[in-house]
Amino acid sequence: MGSLSSQKRMVVLVPYCFQGHMTPMLQLASILHSKGFSIVVAHTQFNSPNPVNHPEFIFHALPDQLDGFDTSFVNLLNVMEAINSNCGAPLVDYLVEIMKDKGQVISCIIYDAIMYFAEAVASQLNLPSIVLRTSGVVFMESFHDILRLHSQNRFPFPDSELENPVPGLDPLRFKDLPVPVSSVLPEKVIEFYESFINIRSSAAIIWNTTEVLENSALNQLHLHYKVPSFAIGPFHTMVPASSSTTSFLKEDRGCIAWLDKQAPNSVLYMSLGSLSTIDEKELQETAWGLANSDQPFLWVIRPSSVNESDWIEHLPEGFQEMVGDRGLIVKWAPQKEVLAHPAVGGFWSHCGWNSTLESICEAVPMICRPCFADQLVNSRYLNHVWKVGLELEQPSDRSVVEKTIRRLMVDNSEGKEMRQRMLDLKTQVESSVRKDGTSYNSLNDLTAFIASFP
Ligand code: UDX
Repeated sequence: MGSLSSQKRMVVLVPYCFQGHMTPMLQLASILHSKGFSIVVAHTQFNSPNPVNHPEFIFHALPDQLDGFDTSFVNLLNVMEAINSNCGAPLVDYLVEIMKDKGQVISCIIYDAIMYFAEAVASQLNLPSIVLRTSGVVFMESFHDILRLHSQNRFPFPDSELENPVPGLDPLRFKDLPVPVSSVLPEKVIEFYESFINIRSSAAIIWNTTEVLENSALNQLHLHYKVPSFAIGPFHTMVPASSSTTSFLKEDRGCIAWLDKQAPNSVLYMSLGSLSTIDEKELQETAWGLANSDQPFLWVIRPSSVNESDWIEHLPEGFQEMVGDRGLIVKWAPQKEVLAHPAVGGFWSHCGWNSTLESICEAVPMICRPCFADQLVNSRYLNHVWKVGLELEQPSDRSVVEKTIRRLMVDNSEGKEMRQRMLDLKTQVESSVRKDGTSYNSLNDLTAFIASFP
């Protein structure tokens, strides 16, 4: 933990401890630091960020009592509940210590929507709080409708309804809703959704999005929230590359040298983010489809991301010999650098919100293989609204995989048109973060808003 002396106008940030949430919170920290705020990051002990990457911030670990706790994906709801129960008191103690130093002014607490205990802490200490939504607006807004449908006892939805548009959420179909629609939602899950969308006494909402992508959803926010919303994203475009990456896994940088040897736009980059898993059958069908497509590929397979295996032992026998130099498999890649590489022509993605924004900002068209939560919503927008991605049918056998890769990477008209639309979208998103763009202006408004707190 760094020293607190001689720091003014401090913002305390409370990130959620998984990659897709930690990264945007630390990017926001860098953005606010560049605006003159000093930064404290109060994080869980579990999945601590590496302070070496950010010597300009003060990091403080909150005892989370997660030692020995099952932190696997299937137990995430209990992890979130435990963090919210266990981290409040230590955060109060820590902030009280800071506030004893008369030279310190805590302007506000900014917390990830999942870390809602931080709002209660802020209220208790009479500090303003702001909630950060690390996902898109459409995803968040869909929860209001999900809760309405739940209260009308509409769950579960029969298969015959899954392709139909959700009233009020068009173009989302029932199958795009970010919750299991084919079962009744347990009360515990409903309680979590209610906590997640409730901003309580928070003074504002920060969004890692831009009006270019979500204009109409942003315009509807006032129906549910009476406080200001600041859409200032995409965050990663506003911070130096060195501060925009916070990997919990070690990046395999060897893949950049491999990409250097490939032809422009020829490589399909494949990654399902930091949490999603697939089964052995899907791994095999994907591998066969890739082999048959004849396209070069860079494939991120995280250790343990294929059910019940350590890494790639379930690939078809002889797969690596069959594809030879045409393919490279790594455990974790420097994704933003990969997407920016001229050799990369397509992104096979789970459509996590960070991956979606990163792909758009490098104008790389996508093959969308969403797994859960906001990924389903993002995928629908990529395919159907922005028209810069292809939806991968589920489950996909090897012939569908091969056909979809060829549609994006080889066939002239469809892939080309999608690439051109991605370029147009990238240009618009870039202009939103430049001087007088909507995100640029919104960031200035946010800075003034925080500075105005007594
Ligand atoms: C999770 C959820 O799954 C996602 O849907 C939600 O939007 C955020 O929280 P995750 O699945 O990890 O995140 O996906 P995503 O949001 O795309 O974030 C992954 C991050 O890891 C990206 O910033 C990406 O650049 C990075 N990454 C991924 C790497 O640096 N290397 C890799 O090999 C893969």
